[in-house]
Amino acid sequence: MHCTRKITDDLTWIGASDRKLSLFEAVYPVPKGISYNSYLLNDEKTVLFDTVDKAVCDQFIDNLRFALGGRKLDYVVVHHMEPDHSATLGVVLAMFPEAAVVTSAKANTMIAQFMYPLPPERVRIVKEGDTLETGKHTFSFIAAPMVHWPEVIMSYDSTDRILFTADAFGTFGAPNGAVFADEVDFMGDHLDEARRYYCNIVGKYGAQVQAVLKKAAALDIAMICPLHGFVWRSGIDSIIAKYDLWSRYETEEKGVLIAYTSVYGNTQSAAELAAAKLREKGITVTMYDASVTHTSYIVAEAFRFSHVIFATTTYNNGIFIKMEELLHDLAAHNFSRKTVGIIENGSWAPAAGKLIRAMLGQCKDITVLDEQVTIKSAMKPEDEAVLDAMTGKIAEEM
Ligand SMILES: Cc1cc2nc3c(=O)[nH]c(=O)nc-3n(C[C@H](O)[C@H](O)[C@H](O)COP(=O)(O)O)c2cc1C
Ligand SMILES: [Fe+2]
Ligand SMILES: [Fe+2]
Repeated sequence: MHCTRKITDDLTWIGASDRKLSLFEAVYPVPKGISYNSYLLNDEKTVLFDTVDKAVCDQFIDNLRFALGGRKLDYVVVHHMEPDHSATLGVVLAMFPEAAVVTSAKANTMIAQFMYPLPPERVRIVKEGDTLETGKHTFSFIAAPMVHWPEVIMSYDSTDRILFTADAFGTFGAPNGAVFADEVDFMGDHLDEARRYYCNIVGKYGAQVQAVLKKAAALDIAMICPLHGFVWRSGIDSIIAKYDLWSRYETEEKGVLIAYTSVYGNTQSAAELAAAKLREKGITVTMYDASVTHTSYIVAEAFRFSHVIFATTTYNNGIFIKMEELLHDLAAHNFSRKTVGIIENGSWAPAAGKLIRAMLGQCKDITVLDEQVTIKSAMKPEDEAVLDAMTGKIAEEM
């Protein structure tokens, strides 16, 4: 059975959601599911904008047939060749042997890699500034390299002022029947998952996102159609403002993320005391056990807050593995522009603090506070004085 939503008179959302998937991209938990968006334009020509993941192929094909209403398919625009959007491209091309693929040269190479080389007469390679006329609508193409793959393009419908943004402006979480962000309380209920999606999928590529935002600023945009999550037709400025902050690694909220690991609870105690001392000073605190909470959630919180305290045990002369993993992931996502406090524990030769400093040395614009708490097994009154100094320093900066 088909399940589609009209976006405009000519454009129909024909995507589908997966709520069975445990790990998106084999890494990210998606407890609220994920949607794969695809759109069909019915103009003088028919145009399909991207396909979907293979997990939702059957639903997508029902939707496509319904939205076409018996018409043939003229074009498939491939904005992004990652298989969560292109794994069903082969099915569509087999169903509609006359449909031509409109895509970037790099994506065409990837089509040959993931599938098979398309005959040249089936492909129309486009680059930035090229246009596609479909009757009433004219599309122009925008290069979006490394947002977050190299072959990515966006397209802009100058007739209805719609920007198709590929993975940008996507979110984790299935929209549950909604298609527009204004049908839900996006900023209340979905912003956290949108942030987690952005930071983990695209977060490393802030400079490339900034470049695309500059191009988008020159366009008159009435609607944003991404490949996951919601379509934006109002409040577009609010989500663009978030992307601008995130891609500049700018603080979204003053406050402290405390990420800790603790085998027997002593390091956790120190982290709890740090949290309590900060709260007493009126500072917002969020706190995670990095052994328990998936790294993707903590990475997103690290993007959000101005300060981070890492509290961890020394482990076989190294950093406790789950903390090391978190730090590695943060560095890999361009963790920058933060003030950091360190609490280390070690029962015979504490070394975690020094090792954390070395790992953060790879990151840009990270200020590590000199006031470092070193615990020998369990916190002592003299350690508390250092913790007071550290939390006091953080309070001064708020
Ligand atoms: C398997 C294991 C390996 C450890 N390796 C070290 C080490 O190499 N150097 C050190 O000073 N402490 C080491 N410790 C001690 C911890 O760093 C820490 O002091 C202890 O776990 C108490 O803190 P907690 O209650 O937060 O777990 C190790 C602990 C465990 C369980
Ligand atoms: Fe992608
Ligand atoms: Fe995607």
